[in-house]
Amino acid sequence: MTDALTIRPYRQADRAAVMRIAADTAAFGAPVEAYLDDRRLFCDAIYRFYVDYEPEHLWVAAAGDEVAGFLAGCTDTRRRDRCVAACIAPRIALNLLRRRYRVGRATVRHVCAEIAAALRGEFPPVDLAAYPAHLHINLAARWRGQGAGRRLMEAHLRQLRYLAIPGVHLRTTSLNTAAVALYTRLGFALLDARPTRLWAGVAEGHVENRSYGLRLG
Ligand SMILES: CC(C)(COP(=O)(O)OP(=O)(O)OC[C@H]1O[C@@H](n2cnc3c(N)ncnc32)[C@H](O)[C@@H]1OP(=O)(O)O)[C@@H](O)C(=O)NCCC(=O)NCCS
Repeated sequence: MTDALTIRPYRQADRAAVMRIAADTAAFGAPVEAYLDDRRLFCDAIYRFYVDYEPEHLWVAAAGDEVAGFLAGCTDTRRRDRCVAACIAPRIALNLLRRRYRVGRATVRHVCAEIAAALRGEFPPVDLAAYPAHLHINLAARWRGQGAGRRLMEAHLRQLRYLAIPGVHLRTTSLNTAAVALYTRLGFALLDARPTRLWAGVAEGHVENRSYGLRLG
């Protein structure tokens, strides 16, 4: 563990760094350009919600002025889904119509692969009554393996317990080995695992989509 890192609540000034790390780590810890042409589309679709609509549950690992990584939490996944549908998706659609994102072959291939994987039932459903909260956690490559992931998780889990949230879940894949180790060490149970062809051409070998959950009561 390194003492050089501080775990603290997110500030608005962290926004660009959080978005950069989110995009730099989105393909099993590597940059999102492995499967999308324009990282702005990824950041808007996945992370705009946490930084702009629920920043009070965002945590940052900081080394001085440098953001080393973050944990983006959401206490009510159904509320997130409504907010994305009502506020975020329409803006993304408008940006697409105005050609504000680069959309090339990689993006088309990935969107088709997501739809096909969903139709094949490759994304495990989660019981949102038991596990209403969810989270994403990512560290810049040079700060991994030094205890920051565990410290971010512990800070957020304390916050969720204080808020009396009954349970938290997250989604990952069998290829995110450090993440799986971290969740398991913290007591998360594997809820479901489904083999997926979503990542064919992006990652080698057999891949499972997994959901993990932790009851907090
Ligand atoms: C996953 C991630 C957040 C973990 O954070 P971290 O700071 O690297 O992990 P820590 O150093 O806090 O280690 C946490 C635990 O996991 C274990 N662990 C960490 N890296 C590991 C690895 N590569 N292989 C196996 N176990 C590992 C540690 O032994 C530790 O257990 P302990 O505290 O009981 O000793 C970080 O590695 C990361 O951002 N990876 C790339 C992006 C990613 O996969 N995000 C998750 C998407 S679901």
